[in-house]
Formats: sequence, C-alpha cells, structure tokens
Amino acid sequence: MPLSIRPVNTLFFVFASLIAINVSRSAEVDEAQQAQDTTIVETVLRLEGFDLNSSPKAKAAVLRHLQTQRGTPRYLELVERFELRETADELLKLAIEKPADTVGVGAARLLLKFKQTKALKKAIDGKDQTAAVAIVTALGHVGGKEAQTLILPLVTAAERGLPIRSAAAIAVGRNLNGQRELLALVVAKKLPEDLNFSVANILHASLDEKIRAQAIKLLKLPQTAGSKPLPPVSALVKLRGNAARGKALFAGKATCAKCHTVRGAGKEVGPDLSEIGSKLSREALYVSILDPSAAISHNYETYLLATADGNVLSGILLSQTKESVTIKTAEAIVRRIPADQIEAMKKQKVSLMPVGLVKALTPDDLVDVVEYLRTLKKPAAQK
Ligand code: HEC
Repeated sequence: MPLSIRPVNTLFFVFASLIAINVSRSAEVDEAQQAQDTTIVETVLRLEGFDLNSSPKAKAAVLRHLQTQRGTPRYLELVERFELRETADELLKLAIEKPADTVGVGAARLLLKFKQTKALKKAIDGKDQTAAVAIVTALGHVGGKEAQTLILPLVTAAERGLPIRSAAAIAVGRNLNGQRELLALVVAKKLPEDLNFSVANILHASLDEKIRAQAIKLLKLPQTAGSKPLPPVSALVKLRGNAARGKALFAGKATCAKCHTVRGAGKEVGPDLSEIGSKLSREALYVSILDPSAAISHNYETYLLATADGNVLSGILLSQTKESVTIKTAEAIVRRIPADQIEAMKKQKVSLMPVGLVKALTPDDLVDVVEYLRTLKKPAAQK
C-alpha cells in the first residue's frame, strides 16, 4: 500500500496544534480567543467520530463558542452533534421563548432526543402558564410518539385550565395520529365540552376524509347568521375581507365597540384594540373572537360576586381593598361593593367576552372584522 495521508489525520494534526497555541493575555484576548474557538469548532466538526470528552480543551472551546451562538441553528447543530446534555436548561428556555419557530422547535426536539422528559414535565406542570403552553406548543410542532405521550393526557386533565388544555388539543391535532386520538375522545364522549371549538376546528380541517366526515357529524362549528356553519379557522385565515366594512361592523352589528376602544372610540370593558394588528396574527384574532376563553388576557379575568342582598354580579376586577371591591360589568358599568356586603367572590374560567357574538354575523362579516383588526397597527409598523 502506498504511503498516503488520510485527510482526517491532517485535520487532527491541525487541531492538535491549534489547541496547543497559548493565547496571550492582551486586549484582543477575547477576539483572538473567539476566532480560535471558531477554528477549533470547525475542525472538530470535520473529525468523524471525534469524542469531545477526550479533549477538555476542545470541549471548553466548543462551550465558549456556543455562548456566542445562542438562539441560532448553529447552536442546535453543535449541541446535537456533540450531545451536549449540559445545555438542557438553555434548550428549555429556547423552546419557551420561540415555541413556533424553527429554533424553539429544534430545541424541543433535542430535549426529547436527550430524554429530558423530567425537565419537560416540570415545565408543563409548573406554575408558569405561559411557559407550560409554550412547551406544549413546541412539542406539538415536533410531533412523534414521545411528544404525544407527554401532551395527550393534558387534553382531558380536568384540573388544568382551558388555555393549556386547548394548546394541548391543538398540539396533538397537528398530525393524523393525534387527530385519531382526539376523535376517539369525542366518540367516547370524553372530550371536555369547552374544547369543542378547538377540536372541531382541527378535525373539520383534517386531511383524512374519514376523520373529517365523522367530525362533521359529531362536532359543530359555531353557527353564524342564517345558520350557516362557519368554516374552520384554518380556512378562514386564507380569506381576505373588506376592512372599511369591518370597521362599520365593529361599531355596529358586531357590538365589539360596546366593550373595546379603538383610538378613543368605544367602551373600555375589554382591552384597547388600537394596536391589536401588531399583537395578534390572523389566526389568533379568529380564536380570540370565536373562543374567547381559550386565552384570557392578563388582568381581564372575570369575577363573580355574590352580595348579601342576593345579587350576583360579574365583571372585571378593577381594584380590591379592605373596604371594598370594584368591578366593571360587561355593560361597562363600574360597581363598588363594600366588603361587608360580599358573601362570595370567585374568579371565573370564562371570559367576559361572550361566545355567541358570531351568531349575529355571516362568515363574510367576520372576515371583514378581522381584516379591519389587522389594519390596527403600532404607528411605527404603519405604512
Ligand atoms: C361584553 C364585552 C365584549 C364584547 C361585546 C366583545 N369583547 Fe372582545 N374582549 C372582551 C374582554 C373582557 C376581553 C379580555 C378577556 C379575554 O381575553 O377573553 C376581550 C378580548 C378580546 C381580544 C383579545 C385582546 C388581546 O389583547 O389579546 C380581541 C381580539 C377581541 N376581544 C375582539 C373582539 C371583537 C372583534 C369583538 C366583536 C366581534 C369583541 N371583542 C366583542 C370583552 C368583549
């Protein structure tokens, strides 16, 4: 056999000399170090079967390099290639920050691959609802059996709030297997009623004809004016409407202005919607209108108050002191009730925003209202 140097050996030589270089403690140390780390990383990446744990210096270089790559696809590539399980906390953070983006979903996938089920469960069962919903969402995008095993039980977990159960249903329903599980729950009458809307939307839009046909029989989408059934949200988001007409509907037949202000006009029961088009996507807008309780805005939870004289009031909590509780009703009326007259006070799981709004509208009306809401942008984002 003729003498030949295999490329891998050459690379290894380059690598060995690189980590032997002593970086001087000069002002440029950071930059020099970063450049050197990058070269080391590139080299070890090309060494097939290289065990990073066999070289503490190379490992340190990779870990330093990683810190400069946070939140990028490169970060995930390195973590996966070198099986850097010590990054689990960071992966979890990424998945929570960007649950519907390539990086967040990639992070969730690696957590599953690294068998970090405990950490995922902890986040899902934790107090931070937003984080829990985010992890469920990211896992839904990852899909597969392990993700489903973690998410599916949440759909029927009676002790959990609607936002997380609804996120779980949507996550499970991202693939056909999950859709079959959801349909099975419907058939067995085990689907919690408040999930009907989310699940109807998923199954009515299934790519599997059998699932679709059964769902249409078993689950109704909201009725609109003239008893026309509403198309699923996935179909609605593809339609474009007339914003000017939507604006008139908002203040008129759709009654939105009874509870929402836009640039000063309207009543302030729910959140101001002057910049809602910058905050919510088309899909999120449809869900906000059609299934208000699926994600109740912070500080807009409904409270039920029973008073000593047998009255029951509901509204949004404006303030609460030792002396009294002040709420704003769905009619934008502010009521202050002295503490000694309150018999019971309870936070509700349902939004003050009514579910049946769409009954007064045709599907076209609704599309126009959403088109109008999409034009309500932050000044900087307006063109
Ligand atoms: C009876 C009062 C009421 C009416 C009528 C009403 N809403 Fe609401 N809306 C609320 C309340 C309260 C909230 C905050 C709680 C929640 O998120 O469900 C809200 C939340 C929203 C949100 C989410 C806001 C955010 O910042 O996330 C949107 C969007 C919205 N409403 C749009 C509409 C549209 C469009 C209509 C008319 C078709 C409408 N609402 C009618 C009370 C109302």
